Amino acid sequence: MRKNYEKQIRELREKMTLEEKIGQLQQCGPSLVGAFEVSFEELLDMMFDGRISQEEFDKLMGTAEQDYREEELRAGKIGSYNGIGDAATVNRLQKIAVEETRLGIPLLFGYDVIHGFRTVTPIPLAESCAWDPVLWEKTARVAAEEATAGGVHLTFAPMVDVAKDARWGRISEGAGEDVLLNSAYGASKVKGFQGEDLAKEDSMAACLKHFAAYGAIEAGRDYNRVDMSMQRLWEEYLPPYKACVDAGARAVMPAFNDINGVPCTVNARLLRDILRKKWGFDGLVISDSNAIAECVSHGIAEDKKDASRQAILAGTDMDMSSDSYIEHLKELIESGEVAESVLDEAVDDVLRLKFELGLFEQPYQTDEARERRTMLKPEYRALALEAAEKSIVLLKNENHTLPLKPETRVGLFGTLAADKGQMTGAWAIGADPEDCVSIAEALEAKGISYQYSADGADLEKIASESDVLIAVVGESKEESGEAASRAGITLHPEHLALVRKLNATGKPVVAVLFNGRPLAIPELDQTASAIVEAWHLGAEAGPAVRNVLFGDVNPSGRLTTTFPAAAGQCPMYYAHMNTGRPGGKSKFTSKYLDAPVEPLYSFGYGLSYTAYAYEELKIEKAENGLRVRVTVRNTGDRSGEETVQCYVQVPCAGRVRPVRELKAFTKITLEPGEAGQAALEIAYDSLGYYDREMNWTPYEGKLKVYVGGNVKDTIVEEIHLL
Ligand code: NOJ
Repeated sequence: MRKNYEKQIRELREKMTLEEKIGQLQQCGPSLVGAFEVSFEELLDMMFDGRISQEEFDKLMGTAEQDYREEELRAGKIGSYNGIGDAATVNRLQKIAVEETRLGIPLLFGYDVIHGFRTVTPIPLAESCAWDPVLWEKTARVAAEEATAGGVHLTFAPMVDVAKDARWGRISEGAGEDVLLNSAYGASKVKGFQGEDLAKEDSMAACLKHFAAYGAIEAGRDYNRVDMSMQRLWEEYLPPYKACVDAGARAVMPAFNDINGVPCTVNARLLRDILRKKWGFDGLVISDSNAIAECVSHGIAEDKKDASRQAILAGTDMDMSSDSYIEHLKELIESGEVAESVLDEAVDDVLRLKFELGLFEQPYQTDEARERRTMLKPEYRALALEAAEKSIVLLKNENHTLPLKPETRVGLFGTLAADKGQMTGAWAIGADPEDCVSIAEALEAKGISYQYSADGADLEKIASESDVLIAVVGESKEESGEAASRAGITLHPEHLALVRKLNATGKPVVAVLFNGRPLAIPELDQTASAIVEAWHLGAEAGPAVRNVLFGDVNPSGRLTTTFPAAAGQCPMYYAHMNTGRPGGKSKFTSKYLDAPVEPLYSFGYGLSYTAYAYEELKIEKAENGLRVRVTVRNTGDRSGEETVQCYVQVPCAGRVRPVRELKAFTKITLEPGEAGQAALEIAYDSLGYYDREMNWTPYEGKLKVYVGGNVKDTIVEEIHLL
């Protein structure tokens, strides 16, 4: 049960001046100043435009200082900071807030803890491939223990934007294309971040994002628009946010995008009607960075003042980094354009979270000693390794190329094989590259015989002295995440050239992919002997890949995102509609002339060093849903963990339904030859849909239930629902 602080909140708010109230809604990040005349943003532009070189930029940055806007803080004009994650700075600023402001209201420190704070765990897209809610919660717990030791009170995570377009760079930050998986992933993260009791010093508030449907931006181009039917929004995009609210997430970030012409930051339908009224959320809504001011660029607000008016009326409580509220709210209240009661509600939301976090009782929740003893504990690294191993997806393994024998002589190629800093992937701002272990280091550590060439120099010689050639290719960490959409999602030409040269030697080639999105790799699929999808795995990337390559670990990851064969197929996802002319051999069907109908690798797909067979699928009606039971047999000669996936298809309804929808999944561990029964449940509620008039309609009629190890390879039973 959450404690009720409404009385304290009201009493405190009644003491506050108008300026102090507005100050509570102001979140700012430290800005870099000192060494240059222009703003940091302008400086960045100068580098990207080529007006200054990267070296000049780095030099200027090196001499710059952080500006924490301390005078404004003392005057009660700052309620929160974003992006500060060290105990010394946090406590220094907190002391100013507590001891030098009139009312002594503590600050709230927010930070992007996306996949680990100091101990970096796999990027969310990778970790989702473990299909393991217990793991997801555990890694979030570790992230919270470390981040709170660094002074963080709130993380801008989880991101539960269902993402079906591989071009979108931020597909790396969520759990992929499926609505059920994103819901389960998000709820686990919320629990892990927030712990049992938010007031405990190692709990941090979760800020779910980006509300809503950011993953559906047109053409996968970041910051773009979203235009979709209400049915689709409610069925395919909103459930994961709702699952996070139900799991108790105490903050929400509206998305940058508009939905059907209304940017989420000023979208009262979303933030008031759905989030607060329908879902009962009473936490804090924090805008995305500069998003209030950007309503002017969207073309929905005349100026920042107008944007501030619309945002606060719509229910955006806190202004991240645009200084809109601090500059304009006072005038808006004094002129009566915004009622003071609206401001009060927003202030209450900020104070409520500060009370819940225990900040009034203990504003200093960490110190440098706790910070030192908390980071990178051996058990955190062990968990990072486990998570990395479980995230790896084996995409191809011709003639049992893998696992390698301990005495195999390895030829290792590609810069990513030895680049520690690249292992973190996008959004690891508190990480130190030195903490990561590369593949080369991991081979070295186990005394594996290998020769390494970053750029393919000495390729023939190394190949002639090796039994297997490993090409480590894919994407740099800068190529996914925010502002990293790609129009082409194939391998880079130099990576493909390397693979071709390795293939030409005639030795077996194993491709290890480090990347933040599905890649269209038909040529690699045809020519490599084995392909290991390693994503960006974090601190223990190297050891995890080594353990899979050499068979210490039997790979168990399954794709949570479809791999198209060509970028032109995007968005490509398994839960599509059939159309009147489903893609097939005939010309007049739904397909491209120059790309296959099927994806390169399907949702749910992933190989193992053993194999599984499915039999005896039984479905029974129970009170609240269907009980599904299936026998899974390990038909290979190694023990392994299988992810049992259960999909349904509604063949005929009042609105067309997807060809498959994931409704349940579970894991089963089996020894060689062993058979076990997996039990799954499908709630009747989850089979309903929105009808043409947006009424929620329970499904009645014929239902096909498919169970298997991926969306394509399943066995099926039919059942009739009354
Ligand atoms: C912009 C991103 O969209 C959001 O995900 C992030 O949390 C904020 N910046 C803060 O860094």
